[in-house]
Amino acid sequence: MAIKKQYPNLIFTISFLLFTYLHCSTPSAQAPAPAPPTSPPNIIKILKKANQYTFFVRLLKSTQVSDRLIGELRDPDDGKTIFAPTDKAFTNLKSGPMNSLNDNQRVEPVLFHVVPVYIPLNQFQTVSSPMTTHAGDSGDGEYPLNVTTAGKTVTLMTGLMKTRLVGTIYSDGQLAIYRVDQVLQPLQIFSSRSSGPTPAPGKAADVAEKSRAPGLAMHNFALFAVSVIVLALSL
Ligand SMILES: *[C@@H]1O[C@H](CO)[C@@H](O)[C@H](O)[C@H]1NC(C)=O
Repeated sequence: MAIKKQYPNLIFTISFLLFTYLHCSTPSAQAPAPAPPTSPPNIIKILKKANQYTFFVRLLKSTQVSDRLIGELRDPDDGKTIFAPTDKAFTNLKSGPMNSLNDNQRVEPVLFHVVPVYIPLNQFQTVSSPMTTHAGDSGDGEYPLNVTTAGKTVTLMTGLMKTRLVGTIYSDGQLAIYRVDQVLQPLQIFSSRSSGPTPAPGKAADVAEKSRAPGLAMHNFALFAVSVIVLALSL
């Protein structure tokens, strides 16, 4: 063993370094274990980290939709696609008089932003319209959400508005969250609530008088949006 004779110190040093390396690297190799199926991606944390989704986050929490979705995502076979409107999307909605809306009236519009399957960005051309969302019936006059693709552009349409997917906030094979610059407005909001919720006292009056919305239906959706914003600010 000529090498050992010539370089005993070198061999010792290499052994020592190797030992030190293995010894030190062991803890860090153990640390970031892959997430077990029992800890699903936390939608709220993801959106908070992405900033500019304050209103949507508050809405997901106050309606308990986020709890429901996180619960469902514990099943690794369950996928979700979420269209997350930015804060600007909410503030861009035309304002109207502030009205009290019951939980049910808030839940459905929120669920309209959630599709019960995972759709990777490059798979939207395979999705047939109208998509089924977690909100009500996807039939005409209810909650249809159509999707069209042109190249890499994915457009969502409700019959009242259309908007493009403008970014991927999160995508892991089970959950996809895409950014949209408009709040998705389901037809149902316009058709079934034409009688309008009764005005609430207090804050309602303060926010009032700014309705530039052309139709009653638009007006009703604006009520929802404004109530969301007021809710968000009051939490
Ligand atoms: C959505 O798609 C359905 C079926 O393709 C079609 O009948 C309907 O007119 C579409 N609605 C909108 C708003 O694009």
